[in-house]
Amino acid sequence: MAHKKQPESESRLYAFIRKASAVLTHFVCFGFTVFIALLSRLGTSWFSWHPFFMTLAFSFFMTEAILLFSPEGSPIKSFSHSTKGGIHRLLQGLCVSCAVLGFAAIFYNKHLIDKPHFTSWHGLLGLLTICVVVAQSLAAMPLSYPSLAKGWSLAKLKRYHAASGLITYLLGSASLLLGLCSVWFTASVREYTWYLSALCPALGAFVIMNQVSRSYMAKKRFQS
Ligand code: HEM
Ligand code: HEM
Repeated sequence: MAHKKQPESESRLYAFIRKASAVLTHFVCFGFTVFIALLSRLGTSWFSWHPFFMTLAFSFFMTEAILLFSPEGSPIKSFSHSTKGGIHRLLQGLCVSCAVLGFAAIFYNKHLIDKPHFTSWHGLLGLLTICVVVAQSLAAMPLSYPSLAKGWSLAKLKRYHAASGLITYLLGSASLLLGLCSVWFTASVREYTWYLSALCPALGAFVIMNQVSRSYMAKKRFQS
Protein backbone atom coordinates (compact mmCIF):
# COMPACT_ATOMS: atom_id res chain seq x y z
CA MET A 1 0.00 0.00 0.00
CA ALA A 2 2.75 2.38 1.08
CA HIS A 3 4.66 1.33 -2.08
CA LYS A 4 1.67 2.18 -4.29
CA LYS A 5 1.02 5.58 -2.71
CA GLN A 6 4.55 6.94 -3.00
CA PRO A 7 4.85 7.02 -6.83
CA GLU A 8 1.35 8.53 -7.06
CA SER A 9 2.16 11.41 -4.71
CA GLU A 10 5.53 11.77 -6.45
CA SER A 11 3.92 12.10 -9.88
CA ARG A 12 1.43 14.60 -8.44
CA LEU A 13 4.37 16.59 -7.09
CA TYR A 14 6.09 16.52 -10.53
CA ALA A 15 2.85 17.60 -12.22
CA PHE A 16 2.56 20.48 -9.75
CA ILE A 17 6.19 21.55 -10.38
CA ARG A 18 5.60 21.43 -14.15
CA LYS A 19 2.44 23.51 -13.85
CA ALA A 20 4.11 26.05 -11.53
CA SER A 21 7.12 26.44 -13.87
CA ALA A 22 4.88 26.84 -16.93
CA VAL A 23 2.77 29.53 -15.19
CA LEU A 24 5.98 31.26 -13.99
CA THR A 25 7.34 31.15 -17.58
CA HIS A 26 4.25 33.02 -18.91
CA PHE A 27 4.80 35.87 -16.40
CA VAL A 28 8.61 35.93 -16.70
CA CYS A 29 8.60 36.04 -20.53
CA PHE A 30 6.00 38.81 -20.57
CA GLY A 31 7.86 40.79 -17.86
CA PHE A 32 11.19 40.35 -19.66
CA THR A 33 9.71 41.70 -22.93
CA VAL A 34 8.26 44.77 -21.14
CA PHE A 35 11.60 45.34 -19.32
CA ILE A 36 13.61 45.26 -22.60
CA ALA A 37 11.04 47.56 -24.28
CA LEU A 38 11.46 50.13 -21.47
CA LEU A 39 15.24 49.78 -21.34
CA SER A 40 15.75 50.25 -25.07
CA ARG A 41 13.72 53.52 -25.09
CA LEU A 42 11.78 52.71 -28.24
CA GLY A 43 11.95 55.18 -31.08
CA THR A 44 15.06 57.03 -29.88
CA SER A 45 17.22 55.26 -32.52
CA TRP A 46 17.03 52.49 -35.12
CA PHE A 47 18.97 50.30 -32.67
CA SER A 48 16.27 50.62 -29.98
CA TRP A 49 13.90 48.48 -32.11
CA HIS A 50 16.36 45.57 -32.31
CA PRO A 51 16.33 44.25 -28.70
CA PHE A 52 12.59 44.99 -28.46
CA PHE A 53 11.48 43.13 -31.61
CA MET A 54 13.82 40.20 -30.91
CA THR A 55 12.61 39.78 -27.33
CA LEU A 56 8.99 40.15 -28.45
CA ALA A 57 9.59 37.51 -31.16
CA PHE A 58 11.49 34.86 -29.22
CA SER A 59 10.74 35.43 -25.55
CA PHE A 60 7.04 36.27 -25.95
CA PHE A 61 5.49 35.02 -29.23
CA MET A 62 7.54 31.84 -29.68
CA THR A 63 7.30 30.82 -26.01
CA GLU A 64 3.53 31.38 -25.94
CA ALA A 65 3.10 29.60 -29.30
CA ILE A 66 4.71 26.43 -27.91
CA LEU A 67 3.41 26.67 -24.32
CA LEU A 68 -0.15 26.55 -25.62
CA PHE A 69 0.40 22.83 -26.32
CA SER A 70 1.54 22.27 -22.72
CA PRO A 71 -0.76 19.78 -20.92
CA GLU A 72 -0.21 21.64 -17.64
CA GLY A 73 0.49 25.27 -18.53
CA SER A 74 -1.64 26.03 -21.59
CA PRO A 75 -3.91 29.07 -21.16
CA ILE A 76 -6.30 27.44 -23.72
CA LYS A 77 -6.17 23.88 -22.40
CA SER A 78 -9.85 23.16 -23.14
CA PHE A 79 -9.65 24.24 -26.82
CA SER A 80 -9.52 21.59 -29.56
CA HIS A 81 -6.11 20.51 -30.90
CA SER A 82 -6.83 22.03 -34.33
CA THR A 83 -7.74 25.42 -32.76
CA LYS A 84 -4.48 25.29 -30.80
CA GLY A 85 -2.66 24.53 -34.09
CA GLY A 86 -4.29 27.60 -35.71
CA ILE A 87 -3.31 29.92 -32.83
CA HIS A 88 0.19 28.39 -32.81
CA ARG A 89 0.52 29.18 -36.54
CA LEU A 90 -0.66 32.78 -35.98
CA LEU A 91 1.75 33.37 -33.06
CA GLN A 92 4.68 31.83 -34.97
CA GLY A 93 3.81 34.06 -37.94
CA LEU A 94 3.99 37.10 -35.63
CA CYS A 95 7.28 35.75 -34.22
CA VAL A 96 8.88 35.49 -37.68
CA SER A 97 7.60 38.97 -38.65
CA CYS A 98 9.06 40.56 -35.49
CA ALA A 99 12.36 38.67 -35.94
CA VAL A 100 12.68 40.01 -39.51
CA LEU A 101 11.85 43.57 -38.34
CA GLY A 102 14.41 43.30 -35.48
CA PHE A 103 17.02 42.05 -37.93
CA ALA A 104 16.28 44.85 -40.41
CA ALA A 105 16.59 47.44 -37.59
CA ILE A 106 20.09 46.33 -36.48
CA PHE A 107 21.28 45.80 -40.06
CA TYR A 108 20.16 49.28 -41.14
CA ASN A 109 21.54 50.85 -37.94
CA LYS A 110 24.97 49.32 -38.62
CA HIS A 111 24.78 50.49 -42.24
CA LEU A 112 24.00 54.08 -41.06
CA ILE A 113 26.95 54.19 -38.65
CA ASP A 114 29.25 52.44 -41.14
CA LYS A 115 30.09 49.48 -38.87
CA PRO A 116 31.02 46.03 -40.25
CA HIS A 117 28.35 43.31 -40.05
CA PHE A 118 28.33 39.97 -38.19
CA THR A 119 31.55 40.53 -36.27
CA SER A 120 30.43 39.12 -32.87
CA TRP A 121 29.31 35.64 -31.73
CA HIS A 122 25.91 37.20 -31.01
CA GLY A 123 25.67 38.62 -34.53
CA LEU A 124 26.72 35.32 -36.14
CA LEU A 125 24.46 33.09 -34.03
CA GLY A 126 21.67 35.66 -34.46
CA LEU A 127 21.98 35.46 -38.26
CA LEU A 128 21.84 31.65 -38.09
CA THR A 129 18.77 31.85 -35.81
CA ILE A 130 16.91 34.13 -38.26
CA CYS A 131 17.67 31.75 -41.16
CA VAL A 132 16.57 28.70 -39.11
CA VAL A 133 13.35 30.33 -37.92
CA VAL A 134 12.35 31.23 -41.50
CA ALA A 135 13.26 27.69 -42.69
CA GLN A 136 11.31 26.11 -39.79
CA SER A 137 8.19 28.10 -40.70
CA LEU A 138 8.44 27.14 -44.38
CA ALA A 139 9.08 23.49 -43.49
CA ALA A 140 5.94 23.56 -41.30
CA MET A 141 3.68 24.24 -44.32
CA PRO A 142 3.03 20.51 -45.03
CA LEU A 143 1.39 20.29 -41.57
CA SER A 144 -1.35 22.54 -42.95
CA TYR A 145 -1.14 21.29 -46.56
CA PRO A 146 -0.07 17.61 -46.40
CA SER A 147 -0.08 17.33 -50.21
CA LEU A 148 3.15 19.41 -50.18
CA ALA A 149 5.06 16.46 -48.68
CA LYS A 150 3.89 13.37 -50.56
CA GLY A 151 5.25 10.12 -49.15
CA TRP A 152 5.59 11.48 -45.60
CA SER A 153 3.06 10.47 -42.97
CA LEU A 154 1.51 13.30 -40.92
CA ALA A 155 2.73 11.61 -37.71
CA LYS A 156 6.32 11.64 -38.96
CA LEU A 157 6.04 15.28 -40.10
CA LYS A 158 4.75 16.27 -36.64
CA ARG A 159 7.61 14.48 -34.88
CA TYR A 160 10.25 16.13 -37.10
CA HIS A 161 8.50 19.51 -36.70
CA ALA A 162 8.54 19.24 -32.89
CA ALA A 163 12.21 18.17 -32.79
CA SER A 164 13.43 20.88 -35.18
CA GLY A 165 11.12 23.39 -33.43
CA LEU A 166 12.87 22.65 -30.15
CA ILE A 167 16.28 23.27 -31.77
CA THR A 168 14.94 26.57 -33.19
CA TYR A 169 13.71 27.60 -29.75
CA LEU A 170 17.05 26.77 -28.14
CA LEU A 171 18.89 28.78 -30.83
CA GLY A 172 16.59 31.75 -30.08
CA SER A 173 17.30 31.44 -26.34
CA ALA A 174 21.07 31.28 -26.94
CA SER A 175 20.91 34.38 -29.20
CA LEU A 176 18.91 36.24 -26.53
CA LEU A 177 21.47 35.23 -23.90
CA LEU A 178 24.38 36.42 -26.09
CA GLY A 179 22.45 39.66 -26.70
CA LEU A 180 22.43 40.15 -22.92
CA CYS A 181 26.25 39.84 -23.00
CA SER A 182 26.51 42.77 -25.46
CA VAL A 183 28.30 45.95 -24.38
CA TRP A 184 25.02 47.88 -24.70
CA PHE A 185 23.12 45.64 -22.27
CA THR A 186 25.91 45.11 -19.71
CA ALA A 187 26.46 48.89 -19.57
CA SER A 188 22.72 49.53 -19.12
CA VAL A 189 22.02 47.29 -16.09
CA ARG A 190 23.51 46.41 -12.70
CA GLU A 191 25.01 43.02 -11.96
CA TYR A 192 21.99 41.50 -10.17
CA THR A 193 19.63 42.75 -12.90
CA TRP A 194 21.86 41.02 -15.47
CA TYR A 195 21.60 37.68 -13.65
CA LEU A 196 17.81 38.07 -13.30
CA SER A 197 17.54 38.87 -17.04
CA ALA A 198 19.70 35.88 -17.98
CA LEU A 199 17.33 33.65 -15.98
CA CYS A 200 14.46 34.51 -18.36
CA PRO A 201 15.73 32.77 -21.54
CA ALA A 202 17.21 30.01 -19.34
CA LEU A 203 13.85 29.28 -17.66
CA GLY A 204 12.01 29.36 -21.02
CA ALA A 205 14.54 26.95 -22.56
CA PHE A 206 14.26 24.56 -19.61
CA VAL A 207 10.44 24.50 -19.55
CA ILE A 208 10.02 24.19 -23.35
CA MET A 209 12.71 21.49 -23.54
CA ASN A 210 10.89 19.51 -20.87
CA GLN A 211 7.47 19.95 -22.56
CA VAL A 212 8.58 19.07 -26.08
CA SER A 213 10.77 16.11 -25.13
CA ARG A 214 7.90 14.63 -23.08
CA SER A 215 5.34 15.02 -25.89
CA TYR A 216 7.89 13.77 -28.47
CA MET A 217 8.67 10.65 -26.40
CA ALA A 218 4.94 10.04 -25.83
CA LYS A 219 4.27 10.24 -29.60
CA LYS A 220 7.19 7.92 -30.38
CA ARG A 221 6.02 5.37 -27.81
CA PHE A 222 2.47 5.58 -29.18
CA GLN A 223 3.56 5.15 -32.79
CA SER A 224 6.15 2.38 -32.35
C1 HEM B 1 16.96 35.92 -30.60
C2 HEM B 1 17.21 37.17 -30.43
C3 HEM B 1 18.23 37.98 -31.24
C4 HEM B 1 18.71 37.77 -32.51
C5 HEM B 1 18.33 36.66 -33.47
C6 HEM B 1 19.68 38.83 -32.77
C7 HEM B 1 20.38 38.99 -33.96
C8 HEM B 1 21.40 39.92 -34.16
C9 HEM B 1 22.20 40.01 -35.35
C10 HEM B 1 22.07 39.12 -36.59
C11 HEM B 1 23.08 41.03 -35.16
C12 HEM B 1 24.18 41.48 -36.16
C13 HEM B 1 23.67 42.47 -37.16
C14 HEM B 1 24.77 42.95 -38.08
O1 HEM B 1 25.94 42.75 -37.77
O2 HEM B 1 24.42 43.55 -39.11
C15 HEM B 1 22.85 41.59 -33.85
C16 HEM B 1 23.54 42.64 -33.30
C17 HEM B 1 23.33 43.14 -32.04
N1 HEM B 1 22.37 42.72 -31.12
FE1 HEM B 1 21.07 41.21 -31.39
N2 HEM B 1 19.74 39.65 -31.66
C18 HEM B 1 18.88 39.17 -30.70
C19 HEM B 1 18.61 39.71 -29.46
C20 HEM B 1 19.29 40.77 -28.91
C21 HEM B 1 19.05 41.32 -27.60
C22 HEM B 1 17.99 40.80 -26.61
C23 HEM B 1 19.93 42.36 -27.42
C24 HEM B 1 20.11 43.26 -26.24
C25 HEM B 1 19.74 42.98 -25.04
C26 HEM B 1 20.73 42.46 -28.61
C27 HEM B 1 21.75 43.38 -28.83
C28 HEM B 1 22.52 43.48 -29.97
C29 HEM B 1 23.60 44.42 -30.14
C30 HEM B 1 24.09 45.42 -29.08
C31 HEM B 1 24.11 44.23 -31.43
C32 HEM B 1 25.25 45.00 -32.10
C33 HEM B 1 26.57 44.41 -31.71
C34 HEM B 1 26.84 43.09 -32.35
O3 HEM B 1 26.80 42.95 -33.59
O4 HEM B 1 27.09 42.15 -31.58
N3 HEM B 1 20.30 41.49 -29.52
N4 HEM B 1 21.82 40.89 -33.26
C1 HEM C 1 9.50 29.03 -36.18
C2 HEM C 1 8.36 28.53 -36.19
C3 HEM C 1 7.86 27.33 -35.42
C4 HEM C 1 8.38 26.67 -34.33
C5 HEM C 1 9.67 26.98 -33.58
C6 HEM C 1 7.45 25.60 -34.00
C7 HEM C 1 7.62 24.71 -32.96
C8 HEM C 1 6.71 23.73 -32.61
C9 HEM C 1 6.88 22.80 -31.52
C10 HEM C 1 8.11 22.74 -30.60
C11 HEM C 1 5.78 22.00 -31.48
C12 HEM C 1 5.52 20.84 -30.51
C13 HEM C 1 4.79 21.29 -29.27
C14 HEM C 1 4.47 20.12 -28.35
O1 HEM C 1 4.23 19.01 -28.85
O2 HEM C 1 4.45 20.32 -27.11
C15 HEM C 1 4.91 22.43 -32.56
C16 HEM C 1 3.70 21.85 -32.86
C17 HEM C 1 2.93 22.17 -33.96
N1 HEM C 1 3.22 23.13 -34.91
FE1 HEM C 1 4.81 24.39 -34.90
N2 HEM C 1 6.40 25.65 -34.89
C18 HEM C 1 6.63 26.67 -35.78
C19 HEM C 1 5.83 27.06 -36.84
C20 HEM C 1 4.67 26.40 -37.23
C21 HEM C 1 3.87 26.75 -38.38
C22 HEM C 1 4.18 27.91 -39.37
C23 HEM C 1 2.83 25.85 -38.42
C24 HEM C 1 1.71 25.71 -39.42
C25 HEM C 1 1.83 25.89 -40.69
C26 HEM C 1 2.97 24.97 -37.29
C27 HEM C 1 2.10 23.95 -36.96
C28 HEM C 1 2.19 23.14 -35.85
C29 HEM C 1 1.20 22.14 -35.48
C30 HEM C 1 -0.10 21.80 -36.27
C31 HEM C 1 1.67 21.54 -34.30
C32 HEM C 1 0.98 20.41 -33.50
C33 HEM C 1 1.55 19.11 -33.98
C34 HEM C 1 0.98 17.94 -33.20
O3 HEM C 1 -0.23 17.71 -33.28
O4 HEM C 1 1.74 17.26 -32.54
N3 HEM C 1 4.12 25.32 -36.59
N4 HEM C 1 5.50 23.48 -33.23
